[in-house]
Amino acid sequence: MLSQKKILLILSGGIAAYKIQILIRMLLGEGANVRVVLTPAAKHFVTPLTLSTLSRSKVLVDFHENGLWNNHVDIALWAEVILVAPCTANTLSKMVHGICDNLALAVYMSAKCPVFIAPSMDLDMYKHPSTRQNLDLAEGYGHFIIPAEEGILASGLEGQGRMAEPETLFKHLSDFFRGKERKKTLLGKTVLITAGPTYEAIDPVRFIGNHSSGKMGYALAETAAERGAGVILVSGPSQEKLRSKHNINLISVVSAKEMYDAVFSHYDAIDIGIASAAVADYTPKKKFRQKIKKTEESLSIEFIKNTDILKAMGEQKRHQFLIGFALEMENEEENAREKLKKKNLDMIVLNSLRNKGSGFGEETNKVKIISKENERSYSLKSKILVAQDILNFAENLIYSS
Ligand code: PMT
Repeated sequence: MLSQKKILLILSGGIAAYKIQILIRMLLGEGANVRVVLTPAAKHFVTPLTLSTLSRSKVLVDFHENGLWNNHVDIALWAEVILVAPCTANTLSKMVHGICDNLALAVYMSAKCPVFIAPSMDLDMYKHPSTRQNLDLAEGYGHFIIPAEEGILASGLEGQGRMAEPETLFKHLSDFFRGKERKKTLLGKTVLITAGPTYEAIDPVRFIGNHSSGKMGYALAETAAERGAGVILVSGPSQEKLRSKHNINLISVVSAKEMYDAVFSHYDAIDIGIASAAVADYTPKKKFRQKIKKTEESLSIEFIKNTDILKAMGEQKRHQFLIGFALEMENEEENAREKLKKKNLDMIVLNSLRNKGSGFGEETNKVKIISKENERSYSLKSKILVAQDILNFAENLIYSS
């Protein structure tokens, strides 16, 4: 996958710089061409001599040496991908705010290729609001963040901040080139996905919800984005983290009403809608303004029906291709087929709460996909692989019509 690929490594001044020596070995072992640029501070942690010996190329630090200019634009345009690792809080901050006071930053700012960033810093620096904001900005520029890992830090403290291991960095780079080679089958399409549960407020501190984790919806979002789609992920409360936010616009909502509003503010512009959210069917008729006191022996709450978001999408369907989910426990296929018809869907993904390893919160799912003309049962597999099956099935229908 990495043979002949041109990979530029930018190292800033962090103790994790030593790990890059191992990474260079791994990349060269796969036939990649590697070049290295250091910030002046990185030189305190690893030597240009070691890195140039390992990478079999000249390592650059300064704008000029021996009266000759190191052309930052040439190096930047040579690269097919840049990995900034370790990326210190200081270098990260300069990168996202356009400060360009060394050769490494000038190379970064001149680059046109994808950029990966592997942060490396002490745990409080990693948690600091300015770092969080800078990482968000970097993602907003379309860069890929390889999150820091948990463990013992150089300071002796323990927490998140250690740069990802060379094996992880290597995997991100090879996955990137593998993804590039895979066809972008959804390029130019906009895909809207609902995910996770909704919480319906009873009073300011209580709500009614369900056990959906969002895993299925997030897996669909990542898979669609990898295939080149622009993804709008409308998510109820979820602890899930996207592995990459590239091509994904995450809209966080809480209630079914908020999910409905978010969906319909984008509905006209989407090509594919996928409803994997477990939307609350009912919401309390009255939302108490104050926390309900436990003075009474019993408490009755009246519920009213929420609008069925997917059904409304089906009713207003023009060019959109719609995929629903059915979470069933009995008369499974019959109910799924009825939902397919009643909600005016193109296909429905049936998952059963009776199958071990399927449904809420699990890493895996076992589904049957049903369309008007076709159906197929799949084995139990990871939600990422289920997402691929769902999109493969959908693409077959979309591109054959
Ligand atoms: O989030 P995870 O923990 O990964 O779990 C994934 C999942 C089990 C939640 C997911 O695979 C799933 O089955 N989602 C649909 C759950 C559900 O609410 O199913 P349903 O049969 O009640 O609803 C049918 C369809 O209508 C669904 O596409 C649902 O999103 C949609 N719906 C339902 C009610 C409503 N008010 N609005 C809707 O859009």
